[in-house]
Amino acid sequence: MNKPSSFLGDVEFDHRSTWHSANGKVILFGEHAVVYGVEAVAAAIPGMVRAKVTSIQGPAEVHIANWGVEINALDLGSSSLLDRVCLLILSELNLKASGFRLDIDAKVPPASGLGASAALAVATTRALAEYSGCSLSEEDINRIAYKCEQLAHGSPSGIDNTLATFGGVLRFKRNGDDVSYSALTLPKSIELLVALSGKKGFTAQTVARIREAKAKEPNKYGKIFSAIADISAAGINALQSHDLPQLADLLALNQQCLRQLGVSCTEIEQVLTIAGRQGIRGAKLTGSGDGGAVIMLPLDKTQRLESELAVAGFSNFRASLGS
Ligand code: PMV
Repeated sequence: MNKPSSFLGDVEFDHRSTWHSANGKVILFGEHAVVYGVEAVAAAIPGMVRAKVTSIQGPAEVHIANWGVEINALDLGSSSLLDRVCLLILSELNLKASGFRLDIDAKVPPASGLGASAALAVATTRALAEYSGCSLSEEDINRIAYKCEQLAHGSPSGIDNTLATFGGVLRFKRNGDDVSYSALTLPKSIELLVALSGKKGFTAQTVARIREAKAKEPNKYGKIFSAIADISAAGINALQSHDLPQLADLLALNQQCLRQLGVSCTEIEQVLTIAGRQGIRGAKLTGSGDGGAVIMLPLDKTQRLESELAVAGFSNFRASLGS
């Protein structure tokens, strides 16, 4: 990290940063199992969160208009996670919590299973770094965002911050402190539909519940995670050969495993039922579940999937992976 020396003192900054964006993500294969060393596959959704910093007088302010968030003075003692995340980033950059206003623009609500919290950390770090003239490598940004994810989720795999920072389609594995990831090159981009279940999914709670359940029934959970490992490996081949029917079948199989883990829910199953009625072969929840989002493929121009989902109250959007 290269910090200008003038920045370490009480320097006033009289300029504003431009908007900086970061990726959200969809996990195609391997959520939850990735926490136990299974290789997962995830793809970035570019521009999920943007952040911009403007000079003001007085304490630092944070505004997220579309989440209804307004913080007028960051406070370390606050119960708000956002306060603590912002203060962590400031301390990593050696900055004071005053003299600026941070505006954040998020395309989805929080706890949607689409990596918005990691994207927020990355976009905020980028904006504050530019504002303060601090030069950070992408690895620095990823490391800071992982620390923010630890505040939010306890012991995250790191898949969200890695996608938020680097983008693309990644295979990702963590074994203890040993993290490895590499980009998957797709022969053609893949279009899928993402629907929001409308129910918040709380990653830390769901991951903790699975951890307890696994401790009680290690064989049962070990078998589910090993089935997910096979699905994930086959998914990598299907992605590399652009085999959409096979990809769809594997998504459906992964969803069955997630049901066995107990992380599906009524709202997700409603989305899956609508998708099935519209001839979608492959659909699964993405992220920690208990709410959050569903991904679906393959899409067909004749389907009325988007409108049926919207009528049922599930907002949705298309995402092009690997483009
Ligand atoms: O719900 P999200 O978008 O935070 O994704 C969580 C993914 C898990 O595999 C369940 C947890 C993790 O840290 O990888």
